[in-house]
Amino acid sequence: MKNLVIIGGSGFARELTWLIEENNKECLEWNILGYISEPVVDTKLKYPILGDDNWLLNYEQTIYAACGVGNPYLRKKITEKFKDKKNIIFPNLISKCATVNKDTKFGKGCIVCAGTVINVDVEIGDFLLCNMSCVVSHDDIIGDYVTLDPNSNLLGFVTVGSYTEIGTGVQILPGKSVGNSVVVGAGAVVNKNLPDNCTAVGVPAKIIKYNK
Ligand SMILES: CC(C)(COP(=O)(O)OP(=O)(O)OC[C@H]1O[C@@H](n2cnc3c(N)ncnc32)[C@H](O)[C@@H]1OP(=O)(O)O)[C@@H](O)C(=O)NCCC(=O)NCCS
Repeated sequence: MKNLVIIGGSGFARELTWLIEENNKECLEWNILGYISEPVVDTKLKYPILGDDNWLLNYEQTIYAACGVGNPYLRKKITEKFKDKKNIIFPNLISKCATVNKDTKFGKGCIVCAGTVINVDVEIGDFLLCNMSCVVSHDDIIGDYVTLDPNSNLLGFVTVGSYTEIGTGVQILPGKSVGNSVVVGAGAVVNKNLPDNCTAVGVPAKIIKYNK
């Protein structure tokens, strides 16, 4: 088995624990050592908190890590601390209960939760966090550090830029593009392209602010 740590100590860290444990039932691959986190009061964590980032930075042997942090920028900030450590590997963790076309192009460190469907000819960058029951349709292109919240639905030929968060239940209509560093609010329907650095909400989605 391969030793693995989960970075984070919140609700999604627990969901990720479940994903890995369920996958282990089919193929015993991961030995979960515990969490890399500041001390937290979340008493529902199933494994010990091993320590903060320094615990992992000082770890000398080969180790696998999964970043269970939903915010795209925080996920980037955290994972970049480890980018020069060749012994720390961020695998792609795809739930056995997701349906993912075998030819999907993934970068590294991607997480795909149960119930999601990823269709044909999809390209995905590094550190995608795709929550439960999303649909990523044919020919979609997704950048780095994108978060897809539960039940978000990207129709065909959609492009999503890096560091963008697509809220729960969002629908992005065919061929539309969402820029880098965008937040699309829960329940929105994106029927026009969205530029970089904005927050958009509603049906149809309208920009409510530009982010710094
Ligand atoms: C879009 C979002 C990021 C906005 O957060 P924010 O920047 O803090 O903005 P505010 O809450 O101050 O809201 C600003 C305005 O947008 C409206 N608004 C916020 N979210 C909205 C949404 N999803 N749909 C429609 N209107 C929304 C607010 O009512 C408010 O309107 P008002 O100015 O007329 O009162 C947030 O509301 C959201 O939807 N996040 C997604 C959450 C999610 O899916 N999480 C999944 C976790 S697994």
